[in-house]
Amino acid sequence: MKIILSTLVSLVIIANAESVNNNMQTVVKEGVGYIKQMGSRMKSEVKKRMKDDPTGLQAAYFCNKSVGTIAKEVSSKFPEGVRVYRTSLKIRNEKNAPDDTDKEVLNSFEKQIKDGTFKKKPKVVEVDGKYRVYVPLVIEKACLKCHGSVSKMDKKVVDLLKQKYPNDKAVDFKEGDLRGVIVAEMPKK
Ligand code: HEC
Repeated sequence: MKIILSTLVSLVIIANAESVNNNMQTVVKEGVGYIKQMGSRMKSEVKKRMKDDPTGLQAAYFCNKSVGTIAKEVSSKFPEGVRVYRTSLKIRNEKNAPDDTDKEVLNSFEKQIKDGTFKKKPKVVEVDGKYRVYVPLVIEKACLKCHGSVSKMDKKVVDLLKQKYPNDKAVDFKEGDLRGVIVAEMPKK
């Protein structure tokens, strides 16, 4: 009897763990969906401007002036309570400053990069009755025009960034560095 009971108990535990896992997979899928919508829209806007002006100046103007407006426009199509935002340990715009949960996740990605265990995989966290899905953003070559070493950036881009973001911390990155995260926050259903 004891054995049957304990088997039953462990089956229930396994079943529960599986449903939690399945639920988390659904959460990740939903969050990544929102992030992709935001990301692909931003990418195409930046790409267009980079093509017209390879110095990055037009794209930098765009990132400074219109990112907020476009983020609002894309977000207006999301269900209520869903928001997508970007943050980093080294921020350019103070409005993008991380909160404690963001910092924890960012530090855990940084640690994985140092350990060599990093995989570009989303991470889910529960906070204040909401889920947050975090996708790490790693520096690629294209990011260096505006986040690379200042001595190699176009002077006009450097001037614009200095003028708009006097406390800019988001320079001097190298390819493969963690630039930050893009986050989808959604209410728990
Ligand atoms: C053309 C210039 C330009 C390029 C290229 C660029 N960025 Fe940025 N980035 C900016 C500007 C300007 C901001 C500040 C936007 C704002 O005011 O919200 C920014 C902000 C960010 C932020 C938000 C956090 C913060 O520091 O305020 C992240 C994350 C980010 N960029 C990642 C990237 C990544 C990853 C790439 C490459 C795939 C990239 N950027 C390429 C100009 C650029």
